[in-house]
Amino acid sequence: MRTFGQVSTTSTNATSSDPAEPGVEGMGDERALCAAAWALARAGCVADVSRAERELIKAAASSPQPNTLSDLAAAIRAGDDPLGETFASLRSAAQRRLRGATYTPAAVVEPMTEWLANHKRAARVVDPGAGSGRFLCAVGRRLPDARLVAVEIDPLAALMARANLTVLGFDKRAELRVGDYRALNLPPASGPTAFIGNPPYVRHHDIDPAWKTWLRERAADLNLKASALAGLHVHFLLATVHLARPGDFGAFVTSSEWLDVGYGQLARDLVAGPLGGLSLHVLDARTQVFADAATTATVTAFEVGGPERTIRVRRINRVEELRGLAGGRRCSPEELRRERRWSTLLAPQASIPGDFVALGDFCRVHRGVATGANATWVTSQNDPRLPASVLYPAVTKALELFGMASGVLADSSDLKALVSLPEDLDDLAAADRGLVERFLDTARRAGVADGYIARHRKKWWSVKLRAPAPILATYMARRPPAFVRNLAAVHNLNNVHGIYPIEPLSEAALCRLTEALRDRAVLADGRTYAGGLTKFEPSEMARIMVPPPSWLEADEPWPRSA
Ligand SMILES: C[S@@+](CC[C@H](N)C(=O)[O-])C[C@H]1O[C@@H](n2cnc3c(N)ncnc32)[C@H](O)[C@@H]1O
Repeated sequence: MRTFGQVSTTSTNATSSDPAEPGVEGMGDERALCAAAWALARAGCVADVSRAERELIKAAASSPQPNTLSDLAAAIRAGDDPLGETFASLRSAAQRRLRGATYTPAAVVEPMTEWLANHKRAARVVDPGAGSGRFLCAVGRRLPDARLVAVEIDPLAALMARANLTVLGFDKRAELRVGDYRALNLPPASGPTAFIGNPPYVRHHDIDPAWKTWLRERAADLNLKASALAGLHVHFLLATVHLARPGDFGAFVTSSEWLDVGYGQLARDLVAGPLGGLSLHVLDARTQVFADAATTATVTAFEVGGPERTIRVRRINRVEELRGLAGGRRCSPEELRRERRWSTLLAPQASIPGDFVALGDFCRVHRGVATGANATWVTSQNDPRLPASVLYPAVTKALELFGMASGVLADSSDLKALVSLPEDLDDLAAADRGLVERFLDTARRAGVADGYIARHRKKWWSVKLRAPAPILATYMARRPPAFVRNLAAVHNLNNVHGIYPIEPLSEAALCRLTEALRDRAVLADGRTYAGGLTKFEPSEMARIMVPPPSWLEADEPWPRSA
């Protein structure tokens, strides 16, 4: 693991003997981008240039023409980030994902920075994973005296941050620390330190095992448990707690995933505990915050130390509502500790009428069938290779339910079919047997018999179907689930859930239940994943609050959710 000491002590200030003299125009590749960033940065003295940056500079293309440089400087002074934008266009999303390099739009940077500046005076502001320095540039404008510390592992990003800070005239009070934030040492400051930024979202698969050990051990120092599945943003929260002193404060924007998932527990423990959460602002999963990444976003404001306090939590639909990081329902520390999934804290609780009951009190929610090989077991309803008696119309795509404004699926003719064969092929009519044998030969040759699910069936060819569910529901999308009354009595694959009343309900009650579910299922009831998908496991769907069966059977209106 690299430390800051190792990379920063070998550095020097920019001098005329530095590598990469200006010469060629354009920023068509990273070498050219590096040259442009260096040409802008070297005019100032943004602390020391690290060895990693110097190596990049050595390999850089020639610098762009002076007029290109002056255009870039003018755009930076106007508040744009042309270097960061170019970086995002040159480096593929897949490559950037490895380091979580998704830069933050001004619409998020500005309200966070404004809050930081108004909360209290910071002597020093640290941006962990500074990228091209968007947060620090905004902070530099609002806090003319604060020292600015950019921490960044990618030397090209560090050079861009240097360039931006230099052009804006903040270089004399800025410091670039090129290395891993988790290894950062921060000397004491003359007043409170503020932390602000967008900690990188990197999945645990791409995190070195040595850092997972670091996470476990540093969490244990605080008597907390860490999961090896935690993403890099959770590592950054923990590192911040270890770096911060009482009275330090800050705001981070992260994906919302940690609010709900098991491996987000450490993040929840930190926010409710030593990080000192003040407020959480959870952007609705349907809001596209980042131009180049489909991810959810939560802004967390915090202040370390002091007595245990309530945390304000709120869901917002538009980034404009971030302004002031104000508002929200106050949650007590006990409530935060008790709730395993914090999305539930955001549900519009007061709107659930007292008489409502959980769907699971009178219905079961089941996953649809998992075939293990849809290419074989999903086919057209009139596939000539098979007898009609083994073909069962089924919903095979969630999309088939999304389009149904009526909420009723009455006609199955446009749907595909599932192939469901008996365990004992002798049960088939003699005339059908030959067709089925030929179909199974083809499937066997395609390796279908060897698949995991097929091997765990009593007979590999016998895909068992549950009775058609009276109500079908989608469960994974960037929108609330679609609930559809299944009048056509079709089956469903496992991309759709089936809802089965435990005791029979009348047709009118089933329709009213479908309508109530459509009315009630706000996204907050589900579980939000980083990509903004909201997923309802059957157990989560069973917790949706709906009118009780007595009400569904009576022909009376019920109170609607807010
Ligand atoms: C989500 S981006 C945020 C960039 C910038 N703060 C912004 O908001 O526009 C995260 C940044 O963290 C950097 N990064 C990733 N892992 C890091 C680490 N272990 N230590 C320091 N920086 C890291 C990435 O290179 C990337 O620039």
